[in-house]
Amino acid sequence: MSKLMSDKKLMTDKKLIDGKKIAADIRAELKAKTDKLLNDTGIRPGLALLLVGDDPASRVYVNSKIKACAEIGFRSITKELPANTTEAEVLGIVKQWNEDPDVHGILVQLPLPKHIVDNNVIRAISPDKDADGFHPESMGRLVIGLPGFVSCTPAGILELLIRSNISIKGKHVVVVGRSNIVGKPIANLLYQKTPNANAVVTICHTGADDISYYTKQADILIVAVGVAEVIKGDDVKEGVVVIDVGMNRVDDATRPRGYRLTGDVHFPSVSEKASAITPVPGGVGPMTIAMLLSNTFKAAAGEIGG
Ligand SMILES: NC(=O)c1ccc[n+]([C@@H]2O[C@H](COP(=O)([O-])OP(=O)(O)OC[C@H]3O[C@@H](n4cnc5c(N)ncnc54)[C@H](OP(=O)(O)O)[C@@H]3O)[C@@H](O)[C@H]2O)c1
Repeated sequence: MSKLMSDKKLMTDKKLIDGKKIAADIRAELKAKTDKLLNDTGIRPGLALLLVGDDPASRVYVNSKIKACAEIGFRSITKELPANTTEAEVLGIVKQWNEDPDVHGILVQLPLPKHIVDNNVIRAISPDKDADGFHPESMGRLVIGLPGFVSCTPAGILELLIRSNISIKGKHVVVVGRSNIVGKPIANLLYQKTPNANAVVTICHTGADDISYYTKQADILIVAVGVAEVIKGDDVKEGVVVIDVGMNRVDDATRPRGYRLTGDVHFPSVSEKASAITPVPGGVGPMTIAMLLSNTFKAAAGEIGG
């Protein structure tokens, strides 16, 4: 039995949030919109991807992004550079893409080699082509509620909640983790006074003496810490909606690869109490690429800004 099938069996009277299916729906919608945009205007959305160094995980991510672009009719441009590439060279490529009208979105795969400062590169990307949503202007827009690029994993989490008909308004959302790419942006998205948000949000992190004091109060719990199965059944209340962002490799001699992927949430005990929960894998993960495509489409169609 596949992992998703066994998760479904476990969740007989509950709701498994199927990120794989929701992401596939979004990609199909984007493909139809891309065909129409091309037909109406001659514009084909274009995503430029830069990979520096030979990190195998980064290569896998970049390859799946290239494949996802091809499947929905986007143009993708990829540049792969050795680990000893200088920051100035990287900035030069970003500048060239900033000026290229066929490039609507720019993605520099992180992490970059240590001698290159991530933030210098992120800041060099035109805010109009910031497909990853990491530029300070995109983050600032998000905080003050202006339209703009929202980083892909948080945007994917919001879509998962909306498309699973989970009401957010007035709910107490507890976010565990305050990274710039997940914790901070998802918290900022969900407290906005907008029809699809308007929640009361608490963020907790290693500064808290006892995170379970907070997690037990959550109507919606979003966990992005990077520690395998750190949230257990005793840390949540009955009926909670759980979004597990974690993606951790845990040694497992029974698997051919010698490891299994697990989330930050202990699925067996937490799903006992949850009214809805994302599996790992197959929950948040597939949404991240879908939202990267969505951001690139919006840039190409002129739907961002203002
Ligand atoms: N599925 C996807 O597409 C996707 C995308 C992005 C990330 N992820 C996964 O999500 C996880 C988090 O990623 P990230 O980039 O946000 O991680 P990160 O930058 O390492 O941030 C982790 C955050 O969790 C907090 N934290 C760590 N241990 C904690 C604990 N025991 N109790 C409370 N807070 C704790 C840290 O607190 P401090 O700030 O106090 O240090 C930090 O704010 C990782 O497993 C990553 O692989 C998945």
